[in-house]
Amino acid sequence: MEIIKFRLINIGRFSEIDIHLAPTTEQSSNVTVFVGNNGSGKTSLLKSLATSLSWLVSRIRSEKGNGSPIDELDINNLANTGAIDIAIFDEQGQSANPDADEGDFIFNWTIAKTRKGRKVEQSSQLSEVSLLADHYRSLLSKDDKSALPLIAFYSVNRAVLDIPLKIKDKHTFTQLDSYDNSLSRGVDFRRFFEWFREREDTENESGLSEDVLEKLKTMLDEKGSFWEKLEKVRASSRDRQLTAVRTAIVSFMPGFSNLRVRRKPRLHMSIEKNGESLNVMQLSQGEKSLMALVGDLARRLAMMNPDLQNPLRGDGIVLIDEVELHLHPQWQRSLIERLTTTFPNIQFVLSTHSPLVISDSKNMLIYSLDDGDLTELPSQFGQDANSVLLEVMDTDIRNAQVNGKLNDLLDTIQDGDLVLANSKLNELENELPSSNIELIKARLLLRKQELRREKN
Ligand SMILES: Nc1ncnc2c1ncn2[C@@H]1O[C@H](COP(=O)(O)OP(=O)(O)OP(=O)(O)O)[C@@H](O)[C@H]1O
Ligand SMILES: [Mg+2]
Repeated sequence: MEIIKFRLINIGRFSEIDIHLAPTTEQSSNVTVFVGNNGSGKTSLLKSLATSLSWLVSRIRSEKGNGSPIDELDINNLANTGAIDIAIFDEQGQSANPDADEGDFIFNWTIAKTRKGRKVEQSSQLSEVSLLADHYRSLLSKDDKSALPLIAFYSVNRAVLDIPLKIKDKHTFTQLDSYDNSLSRGVDFRRFFEWFREREDTENESGLSEDVLEKLKTMLDEKGSFWEKLEKVRASSRDRQLTAVRTAIVSFMPGFSNLRVRRKPRLHMSIEKNGESLNVMQLSQGEKSLMALVGDLARRLAMMNPDLQNPLRGDGIVLIDEVELHLHPQWQRSLIERLTTTFPNIQFVLSTHSPLVISDSKNMLIYSLDDGDLTELPSQFGQDANSVLLEVMDTDIRNAQVNGKLNDLLDTIQDGDLVLANSKLNELENELPSSNIELIKARLLLRKQELRREKN
């Protein structure tokens, strides 16, 4: 399932905007990234998509379900009615019909909202969202293990990890539960924990518990073929859904392994970081938020695709606002590559302020938003961060005052006033680190001019 395009009419700062998302005929990837200044409208776009998709989710959950309405605050201040049109391509949607052509796989719907006390200019059109949802409900009726598409929105308020992990009831989780809060709250870590614990309990019932294994490990001191055999038995009894989640987290976070629920000294979730066992609450903000995001995505996919050998290959649409949130530049760089290799069949719609996110992968559609206008950008793959800052994000690559002084120095050298140039250079050398590459270049240039002059 993928969003082909959408249109906003009088939403947020946009009076009318049409946007095609990747994959397009020119861009085969599954990733679209929006960049733009603060207030350029990135969140408005993602939130509108989430609002629109919430209708599909609630109609999959129940026939007459209602999604979220457009918030009155989001209707453009100069308009009375705001609307969101969406076109979704879903091959599943008509699979019962052998004569279906391409157009039959496209589902359009419109959500509209008019301010209180104003005349309605446009109304919602929801027949095709019902049709598409109907299809998934009939699949589920026939086979309660049939796959559902993942639909999730991670807003900037997604860092919700610091909740106490107390568990009162034991839940059982169904496929439909995987939509819980998927468009409103983003990362639902409590659910993640509850689900993980429930799966682990079943895993342990059918296999060997981690705690027993831990004890055996110390007793056997990891020697002998008995130990290897035991490892094999355990691997084969591992729960496929849990394996998916563990794999996803390990592939995103090098050095981390062995995520599990531990009962002692009290119930908590633990993970090994470079061999040391930690309570996940002890992880840093960046580690926690990446783990929670990837864990949440993987858990929902696993729940939605109970029959897939590798549930991470499940289908769906994921929206993430400010995808680089809390992440060190090194992790920002490889982020998109990891998202697309770990979740190959998900369409990602992202926003970012980071030059590193968009310069590290060939395969993505990048849009720049500027004052309500949308421009498609050429690939930024391989560009250095400075060029992206300068050309795409309209940002000076260094402090403007220092930049002015450096330019001034170069002009003085060019003009041949070498005494003045020397004093300006000395002044800057006092101010900046000795490794500053522009200063080193200026020093060389000045020396060259001096040598030339001495020769003459
Ligand atoms: N109802 C409205 N009518 C007109 N303009 C609006 C309305 N609501 C929001 N805006 C404009 O849209 C902007 C907010 O857009 P949005 O939150 O999508 O920006 P953003 O690109 O996500 O910015 P940031 O990078 O700071 O998160 C506001 O600055 C405001 O100017
Ligand atoms: Mg925003």
